[in-house]
Order: sequence, then C-alpha cells, then structure tokens
Amino acid sequence: MDRDYDALFRIMILGDTGVGKTCLLQRFCDNEFRYSHVCTIGIDFKMKTMVVNGVRVRIQIWDTAGQERYRSITRQYFKKAQGIILAYDITDETSFTNVRTWLADIKEFGDEDVSVILVANKNDREDGREVTSKSGNELADELSIPFHEVSAYTSENVAEMFGSVTSLVLQRFEGVIAATAAQKKRTHSSDTDDTGDDEETVENLKSENADDQQGYSCCSIL
Ligand code: GTP
Repeated sequence: MDRDYDALFRIMILGDTGVGKTCLLQRFCDNEFRYSHVCTIGIDFKMKTMVVNGVRVRIQIWDTAGQERYRSITRQYFKKAQGIILAYDITDETSFTNVRTWLADIKEFGDEDVSVILVANKNDREDGREVTSKSGNELADELSIPFHEVSAYTSENVAEMFGSVTSLVLQRFEGVIAATAAQKKRTHSSDTDDTGDDEETVENLKSENADDQQGYSCCSIL
C-alpha cells in the first residue's frame, strides 16, 4: 500500500533552555502557543507532513531539553538527525553566545553531513532585544548556514524556517528519492503491462521494490 509521503526525515531543535524550542514545535505542528515555560525533560517529538519542491516530506521533529543536566541524553540522539534547527532567543545574549558551544557539540556528536540552520526566536520582543539582527546574520554568514528570525508567538517566519531546513535536507537526498520514484514507476508499468512477458522477471522486480512501497526513508520510527 502506498504511503502518503515520499521521504521521511528527522529534524532536531537545539538551543539553551527557554529559547522557545517547544513553542516553535507547537506553533508549527498544532498552531498553538504556550505562555508558560515548562522545561522539556529529555526529548520529545511530533510529526508533520509538508510538500517541498513537489516532494511529500514527512518530518519527525525532535524537541530537546535545553537544560545542561539533560545534555548527555540529548547528545546521544544528535547522530540520528538529518537536519538541526539551532535556536537562540533575541532577548537573551547568553543564548546567542552559547550557539558556538552547541555547534561544537554538533560537530562532535552529530552526523558530519547534517544540515544546520540558525534561528533567532522571539522576534516579537523588540522591547527586550539584546541580540541585533546584524549579529545573527554575521554569525550565520561566518558559518555559511541559513539564518531566520522568527516568532513562535506571532508565528512570523515559523513555517518558512521549517521549510528551509527541510529543503536543505531534501537537497542532499534528492538523487536517492528520484531514483526510488523512477524504480517505483518502472515496477508499476511492468505490473500493468499485460503483454504476457516473462513472469519471473516481473516477480523479481516486485520483490526488489517491496521496500519502495513505503517511500524513501532516512530514519526508522522510534
Ligand atoms: P526547555 O524545554 O527548557 O529547553 O525550553 P524551550 O526552549 O523549549 O522553551 P519554551 O518553548 O518552553 O519557551 C520558554 C518561554 O518562552 C515560555 O514562557 C514561552 O511562552 C516563551 N516564548 C517562546 N517563544 C516565544 C516567542 O516567540 N515570543 C515570546 N514573546 N515568548 C516566547
């Protein structure tokens, strides 16, 4: 049976405690906003399907605990992520300074090809801003990664930001996804071709493609 997506990716949200990781996830997946800060314990995730460049992508988004005491737990999951949203809070200079510490952790514990984007949250709090847009842009330029200023509160740029990281990951796997789709198409036309061709060949093709029925998957569900 065909799945309703072509690719499945894991995206992880990292950053200091209180920068708004859970709120970003809730805004994107459920269009909700939580005013209180309830610290995430360990790791949590939600799923969302979106269409990027014509490809139906299902993303499993992992919300991690920002608190130092959970760091050893969350680090164990870094390797499994194909994309990382590295977030800081524009009203908290320390969370911006700590971006470099998070990057060092990603380098040490993450996949070497992981796609990373830098995200400045709480864009709506101009009154308490401690980190200028220029500083965020400069850091992202230095690291050669995309930069987005967003607000989980107003939802400004939130969907665009998730689209951006998904699209980056997708670019890396485009070749594999296209090959899988082409293979699927070939199998389908063989199955429907009523020319009395050699049955063994058709059967072989079917079993070769049994896994493809589930779409291209970079990860297994937890
Ligand atoms: P940990 O789970 O401890 O790592 O924190 P977190 O990064 O998941 O933070 P969380 O999403 O719980 O948000 C922390 C606080 O910031 C909450 O009080 C939120 O309401 C607030 N907050 C999150 N995003 C925004 C935003 O875009 N604008 C404003 N004004 N407040 C926000």
